[in-house]
Amino acid sequence: MIYDDEVFFENYQKLRLNDTGLNGKMEEPCIRQLIGDVSGLRVLDIGSGFGHQAVWLKNNHAVEVVALDPSDNMIEYLKKNHHDIGIEFVHGYYEDQTFKNRFDLILSSMALHYVENLELFFLKCFRDLNDGGQLIFSMEHPVCTANPEGYSEDKNGKYWRLNNYFNEGERTQKWFVEGVRKNHRKLSTILNLLISCGFKIKKIEEPHPLDKDYSENEKKDDCFWVRPSIVVIKVEKLR
Ligand SMILES: C[S@@+](CC[C@H](N)C(=O)[O-])C[C@H]1O[C@@H](n2cnc3c(N)ncnc32)[C@H](O)[C@@H]1O
Repeated sequence: MIYDDEVFFENYQKLRLNDTGLNGKMEEPCIRQLIGDVSGLRVLDIGSGFGHQAVWLKNNHAVEVVALDPSDNMIEYLKKNHHDIGIEFVHGYYEDQTFKNRFDLILSSMALHYVENLELFFLKCFRDLNDGGQLIFSMEHPVCTANPEGYSEDKNGKYWRLNNYFNEGERTQKWFVEGVRKNHRKLSTILNLLISCGFKIKKIEEPHPLDKDYSENEKKDDCFWVRPSIVVIKVEKLR
């Protein structure tokens, strides 16, 4: 579990807790708009990290919030910093859990590119949702996972590679430390898995930064500006 590597965690914590980039400007606004009103809902947040979504859900009157994360460091952080607002913490992998009751909403923010068996994961989400319940998740865009470190550069700027897009499977990259493992799938694979598990697709978004947040210089070749970094998907378990 890379989030329990000391060097990785220290760097990731600095990035996430001071973040105004990928999460703050693109991912959170997009996912929260798709979530809408959560008052009265029973919600599971998978890969909850430092609790940004779980705390927001609780503050916005979700009646029950379960925050699940497989990382020791993340669960320790949550218990230390957010123990007093009524969030239930679950330490472990989602695939290994059995929940007594069903959820109205399952949320997962930037974690699914770490999941090895996405079909099993979606099937379990389907079972753990009430009829009419929703699964909303963001993950690294397949355009990025195809070639995690890949760009070429010339005097005009950077060009992001798509080589290997059709070759699905594990990718290893340097992100703070060597050997960070993620899983690449084609966008069509992700969508077809959701459909075959029984979900109805409600919305797909590819958030990008707002014009006002970007300087002309950044627009030339900044990775968030020139290509999709995240895909956000909302699906429903039909009644
Ligand atoms: C990029 S962080 C995102 C954290 C949080 N959702 C947020 O938006 O700030 C990814 C999180 O997914 C968790 N994670 C890693 N592998 C996972 C897996 N296979 N299943 C569920 N969560 C996982 C990590 O422990 C980490 O907390």
